[in-house]
Amino acid sequence: MKITIGSDHGAVELKEEVKKVLAEFEGVEVKDVGTFGTESVDYPDIAEKVCADVVSGEAERGIVLCGTGLGISIAANKIKGIRCALCHDIFSAKMSREHNNANVLAMGGRVIGFGPAGEIVRAWLTTEFAGGRHERRVNKIMALENK
Ligand code: RB5
Repeated sequence: MKITIGSDHGAVELKEEVKKVLAEFEGVEVKDVGTFGTESVDYPDIAEKVCADVVSGEAERGIVLCGTGLGISIAANKIKGIRCALCHDIFSAKMSREHNNANVLAMGGRVIGFGPAGEIVRAWLTTEFAGGRHERRVNKIMALENK
């Protein structure tokens, strides 16, 4: 599975920790679109880069990080084809996959510790979409893009 990851300056350290967790998974290939330092950058630009890979199919999933996870998740969800879930607990991470078929995960580097963030990433990567009635609802979400 190819995963594109990106963060603004508010979550550069969390991004490195998440990459360590992703390295645990055989067959997971990671592309990091930055940012790579502490210099201030604009999170919508990062969301756009990560989500472009998901929408084009270059990546199956994306992970976006900023200080709170709020701005970058809001930006990601403006992009057609993206279902970005901001998760700071394991239950939500699992449900975002099982019920919402989230293709992008967001977290906040100033909100969550590295340990819980790692568990969230593991849960999000290993939970499959349940389909069935959830598929109908996800299709309705996607139809909202064209209204
Ligand atoms: C950047 O200072 C901060 O606003 C950003 O990382 C994020 O928290 C926005 O939602």
